[in-house]
Amino acid sequence: MTSQQNQFNKTAVDFSAPALNWAVFISGHGSNLQAMIDAHPAINIRLVVSNKAEAQGVARAERAGIPTLILPQDIDWSEVTSSLRAQQVDRIFLAGFMKIIPADFIRDWTEKMLNLHPSLLPNYKGLRAIERSYEDGAAMGVTIHWVTADLDAGPILLQREVFEAGVAKRMDLSTVKTKIHQVENEMVVEAVRRCQGC
Ligand code: GRF
Repeated sequence: MTSQQNQFNKTAVDFSAPALNWAVFISGHGSNLQAMIDAHPAINIRLVVSNKAEAQGVARAERAGIPTLILPQDIDWSEVTSSLRAQQVDRIFLAGFMKIIPADFIRDWTEKMLNLHPSLLPNYKGLRAIERSYEDGAAMGVTIHWVTADLDAGPILLQREVFEAGVAKRMDLSTVKTKIHQVENEMVVEAVRRCQGC
């Protein structure tokens, strides 16, 4: 092997490696979960975790035959970890999970937990990111980042601008949301594919 080939192999995705086992955490609609389910077998989801039993994403998981874990109001995070270990989960994807996760749990999953956020981080961290960036006439987009103890602030894996500043404001909000969600659905699949070797 030449040194050039060797260098390339260091950064290339290793498609021969066994697929990682993912858990997807949701709270609602689950369109991003569905995008990952549809990418099976390239994406291997072992567990769907929801803090809401009635979330549409839970029904999507059940239809796909994926085990689900419904979290109680008062969450025992060590039990969540036990369930993840029992399903041999390697990585977690927070795809619309609307619960605060304690620092201990985040530490246990350092560099193993991704979050999807509908803004161009570091801009518009936190709730209602789409609405706030739209109202401001700001550039809008989607970010997927590694989760750290600081809210929406971990290292960025993927980021895509969907609307330049001033563009979205000329459209109605529901059209803007639809487009952002469409890009999210593509990006979650791309992120998991990229993480095959990470
Ligand atoms: C997405 O817009 C995500 O960015 C936000 O919550 C939404 C979840 O959508 N954090 P879905 O439940 O995957 O359809």
